[in-house]
Order: sequence, then C-alpha cells, then structure tokens
Amino acid sequence: MNRRHFLHTGAAAAGLLILKPRAAFGYQANSTVRLGLLGCGGRGTTVATSFAKNTSAQVVALADLFPDQLAAGRETFNQINASLGQTPIADKLLFRGPHAFEQLAASREIDLMQISTPPFFHVEHLAAAVASGKHVYCEKPVGIDVKQAKAALGIAQHVRSNQSVDVGFQCRNAPPIAAIAERIRAGALGKIAAVTGYYYASASNEKKSAGPSADEARLRNWLWDRALSGDILVEQNIHIIDLCNWLLAAHPLKATASGGRNVLTHAGDCWDNYQVDFTYPGDIHLSFSSTQFGDYKVFDAGLRLFGANGYATVPYAGPVEITGSSAWAWQESMNTAPGSGAFAANGAFSDNLAFADREKERTFIDSITSGNAHNQIAAGVETALSCMLGRMAGYTRHEVTWDDLLAHGETYELGMSLGQFA
Ligand SMILES: NC(=O)c1ccc[n+]([C@@H]2O[C@H](COP(=O)([O-])OP(=O)(O)OC[C@H]3O[C@@H](n4cnc5c(N)ncnc54)[C@H](O)[C@@H]3O)[C@@H](O)[C@H]2O)c1
Repeated sequence: MNRRHFLHTGAAAAGLLILKPRAAFGYQANSTVRLGLLGCGGRGTTVATSFAKNTSAQVVALADLFPDQLAAGRETFNQINASLGQTPIADKLLFRGPHAFEQLAASREIDLMQISTPPFFHVEHLAAAVASGKHVYCEKPVGIDVKQAKAALGIAQHVRSNQSVDVGFQCRNAPPIAAIAERIRAGALGKIAAVTGYYYASASNEKKSAGPSADEARLRNWLWDRALSGDILVEQNIHIIDLCNWLLAAHPLKATASGGRNVLTHAGDCWDNYQVDFTYPGDIHLSFSSTQFGDYKVFDAGLRLFGANGYATVPYAGPVEITGSSAWAWQESMNTAPGSGAFAANGAFSDNLAFADREKERTFIDSITSGNAHNQIAAGVETALSCMLGRMAGYTRHEVTWDDLLAHGETYELGMSLGQFA
C-alpha cells in the first residue's frame, strides 16, 4: 500500500463524518465538537492544532497552571481560529492555576477535554474529565507509578457508554505503521521468535531561566524529573513499547534491565540510558535500548520483529518493510534513511509518522460523532505498566515480574504544593 491509496481510504473514512446521519451524545453528525485544551505547551498546541485543522473540533477553551503559557496559548489559538473563520477564545473560557483543570472539566461549554499536562498529573486530570462526562483525549503515559496506574483502571470503569476516551499513542495511526501492523497480525512473519527495539535521541533542551523558585523550575523542566515524567522509559520510550505490545497483542511478563545517568549533568534525576530485556508470553524477548543525551543530531527509534518466515522493520524514519516469504514495503519509505528524522519535542514528527496525528485525531472525532465510543484507558495503563516494569528492573537491578510490579504499590510523590501557583 502507498500513501496515495491510504489517503484515498482515509478520505473515505473522514467522509463518514459528513455522511453519517445519526446523532450521538448530543451531536448531529458534522456538528462542531467544542474542545478545551488543558496544558498549553508544545504537545498540547500541536495536537489541538491538528484537531482544529483536520477535524470538526474547534478549540474554544484553554487552561494552564501558568499565566504566560495560557497567554501564549490564547494568542496561538486566536490566530488559528481566525485562519479557520472561527471565533476567538472567550475570556470566560480561559482558566489559570492549580484548579484550572477542575474549572475546565466543570464548563458546560466544551464537549472534549484534551489533557496535555506533564505526566504526573494525567491521572488526576483524567479523573476530573471522565467524571464530568466529557469526551477525553489524554496524553501518554496513563500514570507514572503503579498507584496511579491502578487508579486509572478504576476511572476506566466509570467511562459512560457514550463517552469516548483516547490515549495519545498516535504512532499506531501512522499510515505505514498501521499497514505493516495489519500484515504482521495476519501472520506475515510466521511464528515470532524475538524483537529488538531502540530509541536513540539527543538531550532535550533544559529551560535554564525557568522561574523564580526551585519548584517552578522543576515544573517547567518536568521532562528531566522522575516524579513528574516517569523517566525516559515511561515518558518517551513508551511509544516503542506500546507498538511492541500492540503487535504481539500481549504485555511483558517480566523484565531485567540496566542503565543509568552516565552523561547528563543538568538538573533532574532521570536516567540517560536504559537496556531492558522484556519477556513476553511464548518466551519472546524484546531487547530494548534507549539513550537520551548529547547533541548527536540523530534521532532513531523503532522495532524489528523476527519471525520464522521473515522479519519486519518498523522505524520512525527509514524503510518500513517485511523481508521474507511475504515480502512487502511501504513504497514511499524505501528511499529514506533510518535515523534521518528529526527529534520533535512536540511529537510532530516527519517521515513515517508524518500523518500519525492527523489520522489519530480524525479517528477519535469519528468515534464521538458516530457514537462508536472508545475507551482506551486500560490499554494505556497496560503499556504504562509495561514501561514501569522495565524501569523497576533497572532501578533495582533485579528481575521484576508483572505480579511483583502490581504487588509493589510503587508511589511517587510530587514533593510540592501547587497551591503556591494559585
Ligand atoms: N504523543 C507524543 O508524541 C508526545 C510528544 C510530546 C509530549 N507528549 C506528552 O504531552 C504532555 C505535555 O508535554 P509537552 O511537551 O507539551 O510539555 P510542555 O512543558 O511544553 O507543556 C506542558 C503544559 O502544561 C502546563 N502545566 C503543568 N502543570 C500543570 C497543571 N498541574 N495544571 C495545568 N497545566 C499544567 C505547563 O504550564 C505547560 O504549558 C506530556 O505528558 C508528554 O509526555 C506526547
């Protein structure tokens, strides 16, 4: 399959938004889904912009802990709304401070809450959003520790049948990845024996003048803080672990791991490298390695799955193909080089992921307007726990089983009160 064919079928799918006659959860098909964005940073802006440009959603409300972020978000979305012939964000739909998430959730003027805050807050924000009855798009990870993950499973039970909740694993929706996944699941590789995975990135920039207090600096540099982010395995490498779980239709049963903070010297306590051996059912091993430091100008992430009849290469950039008796390739990827994609802190990647966000957002809005609601919380938790398994094995230097992990009750503390930012 090539991109043109996918675009054709994708356009047909998008057409359902216009053609489906029935109303769901108060929406007439083709009516506007009013979106409120919580967390007006890099990723939040990218995803909400994609919703605005690629779907029937309109950004009508914004919320953020910090006033400068809220003001920047307002300026951005007023421009985007103007370019789309839509109204600016109303003053009454701007929410600031530690209770902004509750005010956004309580608003009767939004239908969909997009949660794009740092990972530590996702589950608390998800609880408020789900309780409000609104549709929810929540960034990964769904929880940064076992306690949060279990709480999220409880929240999943309260999702109403006409309420749609998605988790931000957009890589599954990237056309080349969706296409190769279909073939792998249909058995193109034969019996899968082993998987390798990798995520090699340069360091993200540290925000040096991040605020007047140590707490504010921590919050603005959340990426490098274990409690706020979950560490690189849980926060970023999670996309690759998610693809592996999805392709194997399973989660790892145990893990051993090593790694550390060997190069990074700036603030924070996240590791800068991991090497994890995950064991999946059937004694299939995922050998995963990750680095995040330096300024290599290289970003390389992906999976290779080795089966009895062939192997599949599933990279962010470079050829997406199956080699072996059921050989196949995503033609437009064949002249690109592995590792040629640029790291994008806002998740707006090029190459094989170029249309991942657009397809993810369209599929989600279609789940709302068609009445075929999603509830992706449990799947999101399963992947988050898989990453926590590797992280715990790394920190303890012991093999950790899935049951050990669940019994552990791991709990991270924020160590500050957000009341100071009221
Ligand atoms: N799916 C992807 O590919 C992808 C890519 C990048 C980031 N992400 C995820 O998106 C989320 C946001 O990442 P980012 O890069 O946009 O970070 P960011 O720092 O650019 O933005 C976070 C925003 O949240 C606000 N915020 C912080 N704490 C808050 C609170 N308690 N209440 C309300 N607002 C609060 C901050 O002021 C900031 O505006 C993270 O969970 C991250 O893991 C996903």
